[in-house]
Amino acid sequence: MNFKPPMTRIITTLLAVLLSSAIFAFAAHHEGTTLEITSNDTMQFNTKSFEVKAGEEITLVLKNLGKLPKAAMGHNLVILKPGSNVAGFATAAVRAVVNEYIPTDDANKAMIIAHTKLLGPGEEDAVTFTLPDTGAYPFVCSFPGHFALMQGIIYAK
Ligand code: CU
Repeated sequence: MNFKPPMTRIITTLLAVLLSSAIFAFAAHHEGTTLEITSNDTMQFNTKSFEVKAGEEITLVLKNLGKLPKAAMGHNLVILKPGSNVAGFATAAVRAVVNEYIPTDDANKAMIIAHTKLLGPGEEDAVTFTLPDTGAYPFVCSFPGHFALMQGIIYAK
């Protein structure tokens, strides 16, 4: 019985240590890798390729620096699985007007790893994802007519 108060204290201390390390791990995890990509009124992303670590949580922020209205020059960023048919995806996307140019059919949906919202002038959106395996993951803006200029590759190493 004499040992009860110290024991309780030890357990409390242990719990506190466990909890704080869990909080630290959570915070560290969410600091992860953050990438920023911009888009503009000349139908360009500011980068054509970049590298990430396979399996690592990535936060990608797309900022649209353009001034033109969303209906004329909207941008998004869609990350596709390695080996995806990018042109086929972009063609299907044109028909997906009501879904802001993200295809909803099973075959094209299955290619998508992650995507941002469709952005108007001055808007930004962040998306968090993990590329599970090493490889070359295409990324594209699926707004009609943009994919030819607005595409690139994420290399997961
Ligand atoms: Cu675009």
